[in-house]
Amino acid sequence: MSGLFYCPSVASATTPTDEEKDEALSSYNIALIGGDGIGPEVVAEAMKVVAATGVEVDTTSYDLGASRYVRTGEVLSDAVLEELRGFDAILLGAVGPAIGSKEVPPGTLERGLLLKLRFELDLYVNMRPFATPPQSADSSVAKVDFVVIRENTEGTYAGEGGFLRKGTLAEVATQGSVNTRFGVERAIRFAFELAQSRAAKHLTLVHKTNVLTFSGDLWQRTFDLVSVEFPEVGVAYNHVDAACIYMVESPQRYDVIVTDNLFGDILTDLAGAISGGIGYAASANLNPARTGPSLFEPVHGAAHDIVGTGLANPTAAIRSAALMLEFLGETAAANAIFSVLDSFSPDAGSTTSQIGNAIAERVSNASN
Ligand code: IPM
Ligand code: MN
Repeated sequence: MSGLFYCPSVASATTPTDEEKDEALSSYNIALIGGDGIGPEVVAEAMKVVAATGVEVDTTSYDLGASRYVRTGEVLSDAVLEELRGFDAILLGAVGPAIGSKEVPPGTLERGLLLKLRFELDLYVNMRPFATPPQSADSSVAKVDFVVIRENTEGTYAGEGGFLRKGTLAEVATQGSVNTRFGVERAIRFAFELAQSRAAKHLTLVHKTNVLTFSGDLWQRTFDLVSVEFPEVGVAYNHVDAACIYMVESPQRYDVIVTDNLFGDILTDLAGAISGGIGYAASANLNPARTGPSLFEPVHGAAHDIVGTGLANPTAAIRSAALMLEFLGETAAANAIFSVLDSFSPDAGSTTSQIGNAIAERVSNASN
């Protein structure tokens, strides 16, 4: 069966080798991209918590994002991209102009910075875990614990398409969806391996195979073929529109979800909303083949309206930093942060840095 596949297993790549574990003893080179709005605030709290684990990191800050673009006209130069390739990991806060700002045309930062990093660094898995935060335990909020694996380099995000007769009444605009067997398979394979490692061992493919009969067919066939290699993993299929209903009405059904780039973008905002709010949603843009650094960022945006107020919730950035430590092989440090986050609920009215300090203190106590 495996002869059918182009992708080698990523199992060995997702678990650091002994050599990589030896490296874990020295310090890691981390690029920090605070970005815009509340980005720098939440990254600062995340790095406090990383420091509290005792894992040694050398950080280099990069000034990238909307304000940098407005000041200099530069989004991401080739030289900076090349520098970033040399780091062990990248932690990003948020980038984007204030809503209504006309200084940054739509797509400038999305395509020029975030997607450029995802594509150039081949961050082909966007892993987004969702778990109900502790303060919701007694409320009517459903207890959920699932992970969305979003294919991160293809689909409608690939940028295929263009204009014909632009600006005329006869204008044509196309925006294609690029789905390669290679790209689809590596995302699906990662999702199966993740599902296999979890207690529930369940994987749901989300797509729209009833309408997207070309790309959906490729996704379904590839899913079915890979599933043969994971007999212990139970599988399901949901159309994306139905998945939106299920996610609101009975999200406990989900363990791991795998889906394409655009469906994954939309579904993970919904998942954030039903699992405590987007202030808790972390993400890991992974290059599981480890041909370069992976990038970790909260799902939320720059939230310019609350800059400097102390209202920004640093939890998503802190969890993203824990995902970074986990991917670097610092399992104990990552687990120390995860277990604090699983039981920590901030006092009402706590500010961004009070939350960061409280989590850092608990992590430090657990790590010593
Ligand atoms: C996300 C964001 C990005 C995306 C944008 C900012 C390019 O919404 O990370 O979910 O669409 O992937
Ligand atoms: Mn999004």
